Amino acid sequence: MNNIILGIESSCDDTSAAIIKNGILLSDVIGVQEVHQIYGGVVPELASREHQKNIIPVVERAIKLANVKKEDINAIAFTIGPGLMGSLLVGTSFVKGLALSLNVPLIKVNHLEAHILSVFLKERDFKYQFPKFPFLSMLVSGGHTQIVKVNSFFEMKILGETIDDAAGEAFDKCGKIMGLNYPSGPVIDKLSKKGNPKSFKFSKPKVKDLNFSFSGLKTSFLYSLRDKVKENSNFIKENKNDLCASLQNTIIEILMEKLEKAVKKTGITEVTIAGGVSANFQLRQELLKKGRNENWNVFLPLRKYSTDNAAMIAISGYYKFLDKRDFVSQSVVPNARLKI
Ligand code: KG4
Ligand code: ZN
Repeated sequence: MNNIILGIESSCDDTSAAIIKNGILLSDVIGVQEVHQIYGGVVPELASREHQKNIIPVVERAIKLANVKKEDINAIAFTIGPGLMGSLLVGTSFVKGLALSLNVPLIKVNHLEAHILSVFLKERDFKYQFPKFPFLSMLVSGGHTQIVKVNSFFEMKILGETIDDAAGEAFDKCGKIMGLNYPSGPVIDKLSKKGNPKSFKFSKPKVKDLNFSFSGLKTSFLYSLRDKVKENSNFIKENKNDLCASLQNTIIEILMEKLEKAVKKTGITEVTIAGGVSANFQLRQELLKKGRNENWNVFLPLRKYSTDNAAMIAISGYYKFLDKRDFVSQSVVPNARLKI
C-alpha cells in the first residue's frame, strides 16, 4: 500500500504544503508573505490574514504538482506549534475540515522537531546518507537556538539553548541597524562573501554550559556603529560588506564553539544543523571543515529546506504515520509555546 502524506505549515509567515509518498518528497509549495518586509518584521495580524488567502491555492498546487489524487491522501500532518497563535489557528482549522472531508487521520507535528527531521528529506528514490541515532542537531532559527540530542524520530532532548535572542534574531536585528531588508540573514550571508571577517571585532558572550546568548552582541554592534557614524555619516554604507562579514563571523564562532563543546561532552560525533540560519553559507562551510578535521559525520539538510517549509512537516508526519503515533481528534488546539 502507498503512504501519501500531506504536510501543512502555517506557524509564522510562510504558508506551505507538501506531499510525501512512501518517504519521497513529491512537492513542496511555499507562499511567501511579502507584506511584512516594509515593517521590518512579521506582523501577526497580517500573517494570519495572508494564510487565509493563501492556504487553499497553496494546498491545491502541492497536490497538483505531486500528481496525486486528493482521495489517495492517507493522512494530513500539520504544525501544532510553536508559532504565532493566529497563524497556527488558520492551519489547524483548515486541516480539521480537510481531514473530515477526506476521512483521514490528522497528525500533529512540532515545528522545531520538524526542522531537525528535515535532514531526512529525500527528493528521489535512491540511498541517501542519513545520521544515525543518537545524533546532535544544532537548531538555529529566527525564534530558537538550541543544541538537541536526537535519540529517535520521536524522542529529542535539549542540551543547551539561548538565554535571550536567537541566532536568527541577531542577524535580523543587526541587519535592521544597518538598514537592510527583513529578514536580514540571507542578505548578510550574501554581502559577507565580499567582506573581510576580521575587519571589526564585536564582543562575544560568556555563557555557562551549552547555552547561548546573542543580546550582548547586538548591543556591542549597535554601540560600535553609533560611535563610527558620529565620526563619518557614511560609515555603514562604506563598510557594509566588512561589517556583515565580521558580524556573521562572530555569530558563527559563538555557534561553533558550543557545538564543539557538545560533541566533547556527549561523545556523539554524528552532527547536523537545522532551521533558517542553517542555510548560511559560511556556517555550512565551517561545519564541513570541522567534520573533516575532527572526524565528525556531518549531515547538512538541503539549503532550500532550512527555512520554514511543509516538506519537513510531511516527513515528520510520514514517520509518525508508520509508527501510528500522535494522531489527534477534531478537538485539537494549537500550542503557540510548544517546546521540544
Ligand atoms: O526557520 P526559519 O525560517 O523561521 C523560524 O524562525 O522558525 O528561520 C528564519 C531565520 C531568520 O532570522 C533569517 O534571517 C534566518 O533564519 N536566515 C538566515 C539565512 N537564511 C535565513 N540567517 C543567516 N544566513 C542565511 N542564509
Ligand atoms: Zn522555523
